[in-house]
Amino acid sequence: MAADCAIGIHDLSFATTEFVLPHTALAEHNGTEIGKYHVGIGQRSMSVPGADEDIVTMGAAAAEPIIARHGRGRIRTVVFATESSIDQAKSAGVYVHSLLGLPSATRVVELKQACYGATAALQFAVGLVLRDPAQQVLVVASDISKYDLESPGEATQGAAAVAMLVCSDPALVRIEEPSGLFTSDVMDFWRPNYRDAALVDGEGSITAYLQAVESSWKDYTEQGGRSLDEFTAFCYHQPYTKMAYKAHRHLLNTCAYDTDEARISRAVEPTTAYNMVIGNSYTASTYLGLASLLDRADDLPGRPIGFLSYGSGSVAEFFAGTVVPGYREHLRTPAHHEAIGRRRPLDYAAYRELHERSFPTDGGDHPTPSQTTGPYRLAALRGHKRVYERC
Ligand code: CAA
Repeated sequence: MAADCAIGIHDLSFATTEFVLPHTALAEHNGTEIGKYHVGIGQRSMSVPGADEDIVTMGAAAAEPIIARHGRGRIRTVVFATESSIDQAKSAGVYVHSLLGLPSATRVVELKQACYGATAALQFAVGLVLRDPAQQVLVVASDISKYDLESPGEATQGAAAVAMLVCSDPALVRIEEPSGLFTSDVMDFWRPNYRDAALVDGEGSITAYLQAVESSWKDYTEQGGRSLDEFTAFCYHQPYTKMAYKAHRHLLNTCAYDTDEARISRAVEPTTAYNMVIGNSYTASTYLGLASLLDRADDLPGRPIGFLSYGSGSVAEFFAGTVVPGYREHLRTPAHHEAIGRRRPLDYAAYRELHERSFPTDGGDHPTPSQTTGPYRLAALRGHKRVYERC
């Protein structure tokens, strides 16, 4: 039986972008039958960052309400997880630390392993709190998913940041031991340093993901984890929402369970509401799934949830969390709906212009157009330095 360590997610908040591209606009441009997007991959729209938005502005916007509610005093560590990093050396978390006015007596670091990074951050945070239960750790997962125009991956772009406060006696979800782990050196999805957009072997990435589901579950059971029947819902990494259904069907098959579609839908559908309209947010995606589940389901107190975090390349982890009674009083459902509802729709031409934007590399002063109505903006790239401001 899995042990309860009473450390976990105390608060969770997400932010996304200024703009949104409905899949209908993409389908109209490229002549795709809309059913492929709406039904085939299960996506309705994708968040698109404005010219003055990036992983830092989204990360700070996601974390700001957490700081406003809980203060800065007990945060001793910020872990920023991303695979769309803006600098090879400096952690994006240091900019967020500065924008949020966190104390200088803080350790800040950036973690990367494709879409798995936030789960590593969460587990490291649990370990730090176990060592000193008086401390809190701010985990920020922020990513912009970008593929080449006209590529198969284009319809699975998106962007968002999830911020989580990890501490002892959490109000939302207790993270349990054990974890099931899996690493395999595969080239299913990657982004060389000289590229803006990711490269992907589409079919190969689906196979690699399903292999990781099976293998991390196997390790989870070997480590003494819960049985499949105990879980009320499953938060899978969602590159597109249909992938979560594929993953759960594969898990049921692996365990020789009946793959009844209604059963799969009950376990997965409540986790998909935000990812369906935001798109792939890489390392934030599993935790957007948790946000959707907590905001939508009302029968969760005391119930175990399964988490399957997959990061191409590849690393995966299966673990469980138990929802804390009274969690509903601590949710941010109206703010989450507002973050999605406030986005301004783009037509295809405007989306394409934003997609093709990049900063000159000459070290000059390059102010960005003022587009975001969010709390933080990337004001310029000046002398090779990113300049952020509070709006
Ligand atoms: N109505 C309903 N369904 C339709 C349809 C229609 N008119 N037309 C097609 N479909 C269905 C297809 O049957 C297919 O369903 P199944 O997956 O159940 O077979 C689905 O829509 C997709 O169609 P295709 O396979 O033909 O789509 P594609 O080849 O253009 O690309 C993709 C799909 C490979 C996922 C592509 O979007 C891609 O490369 N995405 C990026 C990679 C990715 O997300 N991989 C996921 C695993 S890796 C990961 O999770 C890490 C990460 O974040 C990247």
